[in-house]
Amino acid sequence: MRLTIEEQEMLDGKQGPGVQKAMELLVALGETFGAERMIEITRAHVALSGQEGDTYFCELLVRGGAKCKIAPSTNPSWDLNLTKYYTVTDKELELNKKTIEAYTKIGAILNFCCIPELKDNVPTFGEHVAFSESSATPYVNSVLGARTNRESSPSALAAAVIGKTPEYGFHLDENRKGTILVNVEANLKDEFDWGMMGWYVGKYVSSEIPVFNVKNLNKYHLPEKMLYMGAELNTSGAVAMYHIVGVTPEAPTLEKAFGNNKPKFEINVTDTHIKQTQEEISEKSGKINLVMLGCPHYTLDQIKDVAKLLEGKKVHEGVAFWILTSFATIELAKRSGYLETIEKAGACLVPDTCIDEPCWKSFEGGLGITDSPKCAYYRERRGQPFVIRRLEDCVEAAVKGEI
Ligand code: F3S
Repeated sequence: MRLTIEEQEMLDGKQGPGVQKAMELLVALGETFGAERMIEITRAHVALSGQEGDTYFCELLVRGGAKCKIAPSTNPSWDLNLTKYYTVTDKELELNKKTIEAYTKIGAILNFCCIPELKDNVPTFGEHVAFSESSATPYVNSVLGARTNRESSPSALAAAVIGKTPEYGFHLDENRKGTILVNVEANLKDEFDWGMMGWYVGKYVSSEIPVFNVKNLNKYHLPEKMLYMGAELNTSGAVAMYHIVGVTPEAPTLEKAFGNNKPKFEINVTDTHIKQTQEEISEKSGKINLVMLGCPHYTLDQIKDVAKLLEGKKVHEGVAFWILTSFATIELAKRSGYLETIEKAGACLVPDTCIDEPCWKSFEGGLGITDSPKCAYYRERRGQPFVIRRLEDCVEAAVKGEI
């Protein structure tokens, strides 16, 4: 890579060992992927996840005197004051304290939300950014038209410290064109169906760039639909960018979406594929101990839908009903009356946490129900099987205590 004098000085440790470590990581990444230079970024998001490795790296930078040039937003962790929702061990508590302390010292914004691109940290078209959450990255590239690679938590943090990232991958025009054509004949009703489509297509396309040609496009809840599809594309596959013809900014037409590329292959998506995908990845049925919504974090619109469905109903005894979202969204839900309806029914809005955090141990062993394949995928790795159904069915199951 060609480095400027200042960048070389950072690499040589002239701005301290913390900056040097961050620069070493970025240069190693750049050299691995053939970047010729560093470019400035204007935003970053770190999927801090409260895992030991990520916290260790942040502490290392802090000890070396590093401070973020670009204050990054941060993924869900869990709030030390919210243990009324869950029990955690002393070791987990200790790690969480260390995580919060390290990220505060380095200058991150502790918004603890996995959909920053919708409200807290929204890039605009053409901005170069470093985002490291698997549901956020496809949205940033595809829907907003900003440019990010599929960053890890340490690489996004390093970019935030330096204010730059190596120029490769999705930062370059030539790597943003479509490579696979997806003909969508299915009637996609809601974000649940879009999520299923994302899971189905992600399995086949790996890290390619699918171009969706959707026959019957219903624009209601379109941000949530694209959010869900991206989350699943990047879970069953490794898709950091897609196009929807006539919807996403770099795909006004099919021709523009592909540029000079010819589709490597085509995939058809029908109602049957959506149904089969759900059957394949979902547990069958049984008594449930948990309803889990909000992976990715629920938006206010989605919370409004839950409140409407729960109005006048009662969650079955022995069933925990969690909706994950951010503190800020809960405040809005409170002001709008949705929180009261939800709590009256026996469900709760849980702020700032994630289905992959330690609080989930209390539910392991039982059967859960969720509207999110990503949630089911993460939890099943840790011993909590999930039935996957659309929102209406999740609410019905919550009331009956079974599906
Ligand atoms: Fe968000 Fe955690 Fe799911 S970060 S997308 S709730 S795995």
